[in-house]
Amino acid sequence: MHTYINEIHAKVGNQVTLKGWVSNKRSSKTVVFIVLRDGTGYCQCVIGNDAVSDHEFNEADSATLESAIELTGTVIQDERQEGGYELQATSFQMLHKAEEYPIAKRKGESHGVDFLMDNRHLWIRDKSQWAILKIRNSIKHAINTYFQERDFVQLDSPIFTGNAAEGSTTLFETDFYGEPAYLAQTGQLYGEAGAMAFGKIYTFGPTFRAEKSKTRRHLSEFWMIEPEMAFYNNEMNMDLIEDFLRTIVNESIKNCATELEILGRDVEALKKVNQQFPRISYDDAIQILKGEKEVNGQTSIQLLEKEMQQVEAAIAASEKEIEERESANAQPGVKKGVKNFNQNKIDRLKGDIKDLTEQLNNLPQWLNSAKNFKHGEDLGGSDETVLTKLFDAPVMVYNWPKKIKAFYMKEVDGHPDYVKGVDVLAPEGYGEIVGGSERESNKEILTQSIKDHNLPMEAFEWYMDLRRYGAVPHAGFGLGLERLVSWVTGVKHVREVIPFARMYGRLFP
Ligand code: 4AD
Ligand code: MG
Repeated sequence: MHTYINEIHAKVGNQVTLKGWVSNKRSSKTVVFIVLRDGTGYCQCVIGNDAVSDHEFNEADSATLESAIELTGTVIQDERQEGGYELQATSFQMLHKAEEYPIAKRKGESHGVDFLMDNRHLWIRDKSQWAILKIRNSIKHAINTYFQERDFVQLDSPIFTGNAAEGSTTLFETDFYGEPAYLAQTGQLYGEAGAMAFGKIYTFGPTFRAEKSKTRRHLSEFWMIEPEMAFYNNEMNMDLIEDFLRTIVNESIKNCATELEILGRDVEALKKVNQQFPRISYDDAIQILKGEKEVNGQTSIQLLEKEMQQVEAAIAASEKEIEERESANAQPGVKKGVKNFNQNKIDRLKGDIKDLTEQLNNLPQWLNSAKNFKHGEDLGGSDETVLTKLFDAPVMVYNWPKKIKAFYMKEVDGHPDYVKGVDVLAPEGYGEIVGGSERESNKEILTQSIKDHNLPMEAFEWYMDLRRYGAVPHAGFGLGLERLVSWVTGVKHVREVIPFARMYGRLFP
């Protein structure tokens, strides 16, 4: 039996066998250092020419990146090494010598993201991608635990469906024995049936939307968690969302410290999830967005203007530092180490300037969009970002205009133009992560809504039964898994937080 790297902490001083892949290698005449990865972690392995046979030493020395290898040796504790341990090998075996690895990074070179996405099947071996997908796994586990511990029944909703639920423009049509069928945009309608059978349920599966545009927040195939609760109104729904998100993010901070560190995620920013989530009505949100209402003594417009000045100052400071480091490097006799250090800094500063310049170009557009926002419209990506900049914790926007929301949302009492929907906007520009609502339980109003949305009544007859037989107030929400993972990991684009992204323009690998 071989040992996994995440088990070696209990094997210090013992002889173990490790199996895995070469993620890094350097060597001299007498010793080869290999950083081994096996999926559970990383471990430096030392292969000395006096500890193994000549043949084994030569094999180790010839190992290429991503070669599969097996080593036996003694585990040593060494704080300086990644993971804190080292293997001093007494035997080495090449299991498969890899061909030249296509996505190996040469010094000072970086691959474009399209190339990496084309090689996604290999890219997921990369340390940062590994960390992201490990966090995704941990979050999925925490989500299941959260609901199972609270007696929610996991209900598997179908993927082939006969009706649209979230607007007919994003439907993927397919052929179901000669009949048209659609890939599920949501499991919610089935979740509602489940709530009437089990009280509290959640669905957790892939959902599909034909989003014919490339954005960093949209996938064609994404995973959604959709709890649905009988006898819940929208306030109870919001309480659950807040507790749920807080728990999952705190669990991630606790369980994924290593992975978050690999990604350089600012964990302090995530901890703001422990503050109370502001709850703002749509009407108030629009006033705040347009700069007509202050939050903590400032308007959105003032905030954006201040940010523009800060970004300009940051660009100027970075340019100045580049100039200083370039002239330092141009001095005669400058040490190689110092020169490399300066060059690394310069490269990083240039990257910063690129991001800051993009931000500087965006800000006036955001300002314009915020100022000229028309009441009654849906919030755009930049509007969401602006709104959340005024707060620390995620923001909940509730009571939305009926005409921009889905047909099933319950009308606000006395204000039939509004519905009891709620969107949760994540901080730091990650946008809408949750959409939910109290559901319309009145048969007549719901029938009218289906008609108003030009949806085929026949397809919803089964759904109307839920309003015929023991209709009760009920509510639920949908959390986009990739949006959440994106926020937690600090990865700006959802394509990197799912193993194999399906989106406009991408079906392979
Ligand atoms: O707001 P949405 O459309 O709500 C629903 O589907 C409801 N049926 C949920 C419910 O009440 N049971 O989608 C919910 C969430 C969004 O907030 C977003 O996080 C995510 O799903 N989402 C997407 N994620 C990635 N790519 C897309 N194309 C997404 N569309 C929605
Ligand atoms: Mg939504």
